[in-house]
Amino acid sequence: MKILAIETSFDEAGLSIIEYSQTKNETTTRVLSDVLFSQADEHKKYGGVYPTLAKQIHAKNIVALLTEALKGAGLYKEIEEHVPQNIEKARVFLEREPEMFTQLKELVAHIQRPDLDAIAITNGPGLEPALWVGISFAKALSVLWDIPLSPVNHMEGHIAAALAHKEETNEDVFTIPTPPLPAIALLISGAHTELVYMKEWLHYEKIGSTRDDAIGEAFDKVARLLDLGYPGGPLVSKLAREAREQNAEKSFTLPRPMLHSGDYDFSLSGIKTAVLKIVQDNSPLTELQKMQIAREFEDAVTEVFVSKIKNAIEEYAIASLIISGGVAANAYILDALRKIAEENSISFYVPTMDLATDNGRMIAFASALRNSPTKELDEIVAEGNLKLY
Ligand code: KG4
Ligand code: ZN
Repeated sequence: MKILAIETSFDEAGLSIIEYSQTKNETTTRVLSDVLFSQADEHKKYGGVYPTLAKQIHAKNIVALLTEALKGAGLYKEIEEHVPQNIEKARVFLEREPEMFTQLKELVAHIQRPDLDAIAITNGPGLEPALWVGISFAKALSVLWDIPLSPVNHMEGHIAAALAHKEETNEDVFTIPTPPLPAIALLISGAHTELVYMKEWLHYEKIGSTRDDAIGEAFDKVARLLDLGYPGGPLVSKLAREAREQNAEKSFTLPRPMLHSGDYDFSLSGIKTAVLKIVQDNSPLTELQKMQIAREFEDAVTEVFVSKIKNAIEEYAIASLIISGGVAANAYILDALRKIAEENSISFYVPTMDLATDNGRMIAFASALRNSPTKELDEIVAEGNLKLY
């Protein structure tokens, strides 16, 4: 089976083509192509992602990204110009994006129908205007080329990315095992902070989530307060590491919200407010102070994660711990969680750096795991708050 995956839920457009096969306990995938366009530079000046802009940039680039993905996978075969079948049906889905339609028509008029068995498309959660670009595009392709669609939950994509292992001898080949169950997944990204319980394979139950900001959002806001730039996670983390390396004195203390709440919920807005107060009281901050704040922030959130995960492992008799989402690129948080997994002798899954933040492969992987394309096109809509459970 060959899948084209399209991900446009946030500020990254990721398109990937994979081939896969499946046995009872394992899915083996070969990545034929993988293209990514990050809008981070465009959103920098707003210090966060601006939905309308995200949508416009996706719409402007997506046909070029598809062309690149097809070429990379060896599926771009030029033929004599022709009027593509079903082009009028495809137009219906792109009525609001006339430029995208013109570009797509130009592309399909010159190439052979690619050999694809399904198109995997993120239908949520995310920014609805951004999601719609990918969904409308996927629907247009589906009718043009008569290929079934497979809607994918972005968060399941993050889970699939964590489970995927690169083969040592061939780095395009990934195997995705079924982990020992029950498992818990800590989903930490720019929009999510959730602890999910998986008793059965691909069946989820929420056991906790943030009551206010997401962890990535908190990292990004702290970065803004420290005047570091966007996306803030890697920048805050770098400063924190420098503070540790230099053994800088700990001059500030931040709260550990809900550390002892007895449940699995999180709250992150209080830490951010506490950082704001420190910044105001010490303005202008020295470089050393920025490092100290970054470190204390990373320490505080890590301590809360560690404590909740420890409790959950015990309470639910967990056999696997899965960490995923953009913030899973944070080495400090990861090391702390890996240690708990080791102490409890349970399996531990994290994505490699390049699979941690949003990308097309993770959507292709999740679609491969489900191995069940087709839903009526009309049933596939953008769901900003789509849940896993
Ligand atoms: O999963 P993702 O790419 O997009 C969402 O779906 O949200 O996550 C992006 C988030 C951003 O908030 C970014 O600051 C954060 O992940 N992030 C990090 C690190 N790398 C990315 N946060 C902390 N430490 C990092 N190393
Ligand atoms: Zn994400």
